[in-house]
Amino acid sequence: MCGRENLSDNQSMRAWLMDSYDGIDALRLGEVDDPRPGPGEVLLGMRYAALNPADAFLSLRQYPAKPALPHILGRDGVGEVLALGEGVSGVAVGELRGILRCEAGVNIWGTLAEKCVVPAACLAPIPGGWSAEEMAGAPLVLLTAWQALTQWHEPEAPPPHGAVLLVTGASGGVGVASVLLGKSMGLTVVALSRSAEKGARLRELGADFVFDPAAPNLRKAILEAVHPRKVDLVVDSVGGALVEQVVAVLGYGGKVSVVGRSGGAVPEFNTATLFFRRNRIGGVAVGDYTPETSQEAWAEIVKRLAAAGRRPVVDGVFALGDVKAAFGRLEAGPMGKVLVRISG
Ligand SMILES: NC(=O)c1ccc[n+]([C@@H]2O[C@H](COP(=O)([O-])OP(=O)(O)OC[C@H]3O[C@@H](n4cnc5c(N)ncnc54)[C@H](OP(=O)(O)O)[C@@H]3O)[C@@H](O)[C@H]2O)c1
Repeated sequence: MCGRENLSDNQSMRAWLMDSYDGIDALRLGEVDDPRPGPGEVLLGMRYAALNPADAFLSLRQYPAKPALPHILGRDGVGEVLALGEGVSGVAVGELRGILRCEAGVNIWGTLAEKCVVPAACLAPIPGGWSAEEMAGAPLVLLTAWQALTQWHEPEAPPPHGAVLLVTGASGGVGVASVLLGKSMGLTVVALSRSAEKGARLRELGADFVFDPAAPNLRKAILEAVHPRKVDLVVDSVGGALVEQVVAVLGYGGKVSVVGRSGGAVPEFNTATLFFRRNRIGGVAVGDYTPETSQEAWAEIVKRLAAAGRRPVVDGVFALGDVKAAFGRLEAGPMGKVLVRISG
């Protein structure tokens, strides 16, 4: 825990406080003592926070972490370094830094607050040419997409050039990250989105083919588009009834990286469909990245996006007071990342 509510002679900060596990509607904007950085930690004055569906899951007890209350959600963000804990080097007060995946917003207080303490090892500078907004929501989804794309090729390496990648929920945070990284790897990218408008944007971002997941004959349409190949890899954020369809378009040895389940539980699935083409399904857990492996993967991701001339996609920026509306936007289906401006 990073701090306590209204205690001591600390300065206080505004933060969205989670007092119970009753969901986003129960959050309240309150005042708490500033958190203090311990050894190896840094105090950030938050400029932007970014939202992830896991924040909402955690607020409803639908997530493995059960932090003590009050808790502060928010895993991603960009902030100005305000103070350094003991032993911190390589970063100076006044610099702007983004947060790579860490426990902020999971087991310790997160970024939906004016200040946040994070391990110095999890900080990254804003890549050249990116805005603070673009950085704020980028790390978690890009690291997730990177693991989803590379986990079948140990040690981490992208799929072979020219392979076919299918991305479900392609307009979302992980989806856009998968499209951008997939194109940087020379893959043919098939993107699924329920929205024609977002589908057009996905084409601009490099998707070779875009389909509505609810289209009749989805399987036939995808296979015709990528003929004579079939799909080599799926990054699946949606799950639900779509799983059966994405497995049906896999070629021999094709794989599914399971990232999320925005579409709910899989209603019925016959495992026999995996036998004959030796298909494999495997989970993705961005939390498996350590600070060291996050930094290594992040350096590779930034290099690839720079080479491809691509930057992260921001759906919109909400005011600090409008966090609940921002979560509403996330639930409705964004195009890229939903941000909250904290200050500046
Ligand atoms: N395993 C991990 O380590 C990890 C890491 C990050 C995220 N996740 C999970 O991955 C999932 C996606 O995360 P995200 O950040 O990309 O979320 P997001 O930004 O909310 O995007 C999800 C996208 O999925 C589509 N979608 C949403 N509900 C749907 C439904 N009922 N049926 C079909 N499509 C639907 C929407 O695209 P369209 O409107 O364009 O169809 C939406 O833009 C979440 O479940 C999240 O918790 C897991």
